[in-house]
Amino acid sequence: MVIFYISLSEGGFEKMEKYWESIRSKPLITSDEIEDALKFSCDQILNYLPEFTDKFQNAYSENGFYAPIDNVQWTNGFWTGEIWLAYENCGDNRLKEAAEIHIESYYQRIINKISVDHHDMGFLYSPSCVAGYKLIGSELGKKAALLAADQLISRFHDKGNFIQAWGSMNEPDNYRLIIDCLLNLPLLYWASEVTGDTKYSDIADKHTHTTLANVIREDYSTWHTFYFNMETGEPERGSTCQGYRDGSAWARGQAWGIYGTALGYKYTGRAEYMEQFEHVADYYLRHLPTDLIPYWDLEFTSGVDQPRDSSSASIAACGMLEMAKYMEDDKADYYIDIAKRFLKSLYDNYAVKDHKTSNGLVLHSTYSNSSPYNTCNHYGVDECNSWGDYFYMEALTRLSKDWNVYW
Ligand code: GLY
Repeated sequence: MVIFYISLSEGGFEKMEKYWESIRSKPLITSDEIEDALKFSCDQILNYLPEFTDKFQNAYSENGFYAPIDNVQWTNGFWTGEIWLAYENCGDNRLKEAAEIHIESYYQRIINKISVDHHDMGFLYSPSCVAGYKLIGSELGKKAALLAADQLISRFHDKGNFIQAWGSMNEPDNYRLIIDCLLNLPLLYWASEVTGDTKYSDIADKHTHTTLANVIREDYSTWHTFYFNMETGEPERGSTCQGYRDGSAWARGQAWGIYGTALGYKYTGRAEYMEQFEHVADYYLRHLPTDLIPYWDLEFTSGVDQPRDSSSASIAACGMLEMAKYMEDDKADYYIDIAKRFLKSLYDNYAVKDHKTSNGLVLHSTYSNSSPYNTCNHYGVDECNSWGDYFYMEALTRLSKDWNVYW
């Protein structure tokens, strides 16, 4: 499929598509609104910081409120990432101090191997420990993140050239990758950069290639997970876990694909990843309801009684803003413009506006919605979730300044 663009005489950029007309009719977030949203986010985080310094936020809220948990989930890094983003935006030292307490906790977690037997080392250690190293030169953060990178590459299979997502290694039922893992790979590129050892980036390159060669379908929708033959390493079949059904496009998976191809391009410069980004983003844009915030699976479009996944829109916006950095001006403007319209809809209709109604930032996310055709459990449906809050703040921060990425 070829995506056609035409330049407009006033210097704008337009896609020759009906859906682009519809997207373009939606408002853009303004600089004042970005500032206001970041200010509220910082206030909200500072407000709840005492409760979530020795503890972390649960992955999802219940009736709008996160419960405190220990550092044991794959999602803890997002809360620490929000604290770092708030520190960057408002400079309050209480934030830095809390994030440093968290870094000690991530260090303990990796040396004691507490719930690290999975691929989510990047989600955990990039927005927390790598961010701490980049922002304040935290040596403990660097040490912890390098150990996490070692843990992540221990899950690489030569047979199939991929990092196994979940479960014990070398069981056929676990012999698969998932699209989300593209966001775990920047940890490996960072590890190679700081150590000079290419063993990390070599694995990241291979995993990216295997993922994008297999999870993207002919119509540029994506598989959530993909199995390989344990004996031969040959690709076997796609399968969903959190999407509605095999063959549909899980809204967050497609967004991980958008951000994942952008990061793949950032780290490898491979032209085909930019092309794949455009197609995967195009599929996403074609399947949005009128307010631009997807239902939890792209199978569902306007007017259905299904929960949204607002986190998917924030992730997709971050991916577009990242890829825009490497594109020619007209294309870059096109994606920046879309990201601003996503953010406007999130800000107007999904963002928390009152400390008393929620201790999160963005409502109407869906973590895991069971259906008769998928294999996931049911929780965190139509709630805040920690990555939804984090990527909303990341997108706002990207729009407010030239942001030095944690990924
Ligand atoms: N990476 C797991 C999820 O997006 O739910």
